[in-house]
Amino acid sequence: MRKIVIAIDGYSSCGKSTTAKAVAAELGYAYIDTGAMYRAVTLYLLERDIAFDDLPRVEQALHDIHISFKRNRKTGRNELCLDGVIREDEIRQMRISNSVSEVSVIPAVRHTLVAQQQRMGRKRGVVMDGRDIGTTVFPDAEVKIFMTADVETRARRRQEELAVKNEHVELEEIVENLRKRDHIDSTRAESPLRRAADAVLLDTTHMMIDEQVDFVLERVSARL
Ligand code: C5P
Repeated sequence: MRKIVIAIDGYSSCGKSTTAKAVAAELGYAYIDTGAMYRAVTLYLLERDIAFDDLPRVEQALHDIHISFKRNRKTGRNELCLDGVIREDEIRQMRISNSVSEVSVIPAVRHTLVAQQQRMGRKRGVVMDGRDIGTTVFPDAEVKIFMTADVETRARRRQEELAVKNEHVELEEIVENLRKRDHIDSTRAESPLRRAADAVLLDTTHMMIDEQVDFVLERVSARL
């Protein structure tokens, strides 16, 4: 059967990655969480005290950094590695969420990561989630989904995810972070978050994960 690219874009914490992961598992496709890559660059810069506007140092960092994904055999999860070391938990912390959108506006960061994402998906057979997959990374993706949900619902889901990892954050702080990131992501000059003209809109406010997965799989069957 021919292999296709499935692009899942949308606002922060809409359930993109949970849906994308399940769709990939169902189809035997690779799953690539592009947000994790922007988070990894942010962690790298913060750990080295590299100011986000210090372009020569940011460019050097992009040259030196090595981002990859390693499959955890126990959980089946694809975990993000920075220079070969799994940093999955750290990249999900609030301190990274609070800075990542400022890093992802930097054109050099976007050029480097978009090129890497295109290499990762060149053989197709991938589900990629992010903000600009259907518009910039794979404008020729066969299936494009644009996810959205009410901000309070998204914040509650995010709060639960963080609580599982023992990070207890007030709902208000999360709502503020989501609004801020959505704003920066949607208004940046380089590949802003926007729905591709041919993307299908999926509002997950009142949907369970299984329904979201079925919705995407139906679109996929129509294209295979
Ligand atoms: O998906 P996640 O919420 O982990 O993404 C973190 C941040 O990375 C987003 O808020 C956005 O600033 C950036 N991002 C991006 N382009 C992508 C994926 C993520 O700019 N394709």
